[in-house]
Amino acid sequence: MANNRRIRVLYDEAAIAGRNREIAEAVAATKPVDLLVVAVLKGSFMFAADLIRAMHKAGLSPQVEFVHLSSYREATVSSGQVEILRDVQSEVAGRDVLLVDDILESGRTLTFAKDLLAARGARKVMSAVLLEKPGKRAVAITPDFVGFVCPDYFVVGYGMDVAHSYRQLPFVGVIETDDQPGFDGI
Ligand code: IMP
Ligand code: MG
Repeated sequence: MANNRRIRVLYDEAAIAGRNREIAEAVAATKPVDLLVVAVLKGSFMFAADLIRAMHKAGLSPQVEFVHLSSYREATVSSGQVEILRDVQSEVAGRDVLLVDDILESGRTLTFAKDLLAARGARKVMSAVLLEKPGKRAVAITPDFVGFVCPDYFVVGYGMDVAHSYRQLPFVGVIETDDQPGFDGI
């Protein structure tokens, strides 16, 4: 897909930064023990990078790790299967873990990651998602921290992509198409 289509801004830089500060404060308020942040690659990389800096400012000193999961491949419709492309290398037993993901949609990705870390003996597995799309859940899961409840559009930017394009955008937006006209019609 060409990457020069018009994008409508859904959540701008200032709004995202504000929510990151609030989420970081809320995580700090849980008084986490031996906190390990696990960013779910790839889509969460920008959110995670900003969130951990906000966490530093909120007085936290987490360790930071990555797991690379894939359920989407290059399609925009979930295949329903989750695969580990790169596993966490840290010991998680006895620790508080904060999973960081970009979007909670069917819930399969986050549930898979949560179950994986719980099975390895994490003391507590919390989750922070930048966006939650309601009404799309195939698996019951409630994230601990949510940036924004998002309309049911395929969104891009702030790390999120279509076939690896648009990740660089500093905001979250919607590609304008005839089927998906951004804010028009909301
Ligand atoms: P779930 O397993 O259906 O909850 O899928 C969530 C994952 O699908 C997210 O972590 C994203 O990587 C991807 N995803 C879902 N919706 C979108 C979207 O609108 N834009 C980009 N990626 C998406
Ligand atoms: Mg993802």
